[in-house]
Amino acid sequence: MFELLAHLGDRYQSGEALARQLGISRAAVWKQVETLRRAGYPVETQKGKGYRLRPGTPTPAALEARRRGRFGAFYAYLGTVKSTQDVLKNWALDGAEEGAVVLAERQEKGRGRRGRPWASPPGSALTFSLLLRPRLALSSLPLLSLAAGLALWEACGVGGLKWPNDLLSPDGRKLAGVLLEAQVSGEEVAYVLLGIGLNVHPSPHLPPEAAALEEFREASRVELLADLLARLEARYTQLSGDLEGVLRDYRAQSYTLGRLVRVTTPEGEVQGQAQGIAPDGSLLLESEGRLHRIGAGDVHLIGSL
Ligand code: BTN
Repeated sequence: MFELLAHLGDRYQSGEALARQLGISRAAVWKQVETLRRAGYPVETQKGKGYRLRPGTPTPAALEARRRGRFGAFYAYLGTVKSTQDVLKNWALDGAEEGAVVLAERQEKGRGRRGRPWASPPGSALTFSLLLRPRLALSSLPLLSLAAGLALWEACGVGGLKWPNDLLSPDGRKLAGVLLEAQVSGEEVAYVLLGIGLNVHPSPHLPPEAAALEEFREASRVELLADLLARLEARYTQLSGDLEGVLRDYRAQSYTLGRLVRVTTPEGEVQGQAQGIAPDGSLLLESEGRLHRIGAGDVHLIGSL
């Protein structure tokens, strides 16, 4: 079935032509198409035309033709996995290089921040994990999380950022989220699994509080992935010498700053005015005359955008 996947692209090809290329029967092609679909790969069929992948599918060949940097040089395009974070963790333990990317069409146990589940419709989203081996102090990890949010905003070009790194549509629905899982020993960061879930095409399976990028602009998944990886690489590199530049650009795209917000933190809830982002990436919140410094939490924007 993976051989067939490598022969499928954005253009329709007849079952007969595919059978000839692979040296198998048309019935065997049809069977493999069904297997690919069951695994979550977006294979489309049209009578009289044959088979193709949904245009913009991020196959290895399509990404390679657009890749601008070293992120994504090692790339796996998978059908169904439990979570791309788990697949990449195994690679990290096996010594995979920084910049390795695992993308899957379907996750059976995709996870979001604070232990929440993350579901995305196959063929419509970008769900992937990127391996980083940062030479950053542990205390700078929150800035990496902001930098990832900023890169997401830059690649999508719509909406704004809800602290720390949710990308919201202009009407306040969630377009994308970032999950950062780090392996730390002492003050050292051994590796970081940076997971991103971005809703690209509209789907009836998206929850009402979610939005898809294509509602606001034209979007091809593979073009977006290539651009996003290049922007992640640029912002990641910038973190080594120009933290203030990352923070300045992040603040400019914030939907949180200047707003009344409620934040659920591990210590409880606090409501107040979001006043700023501190140099360490924490959120500064003024509530009842006191300035709170929030390192981790869930922000709820109060009122409409
Ligand atoms: C959030 O907003 O809560 C973060 C969502 C992160 C989801 C992505 S999808 C790819 C990667 N694999 C996972 O299991 N989670 C992240």
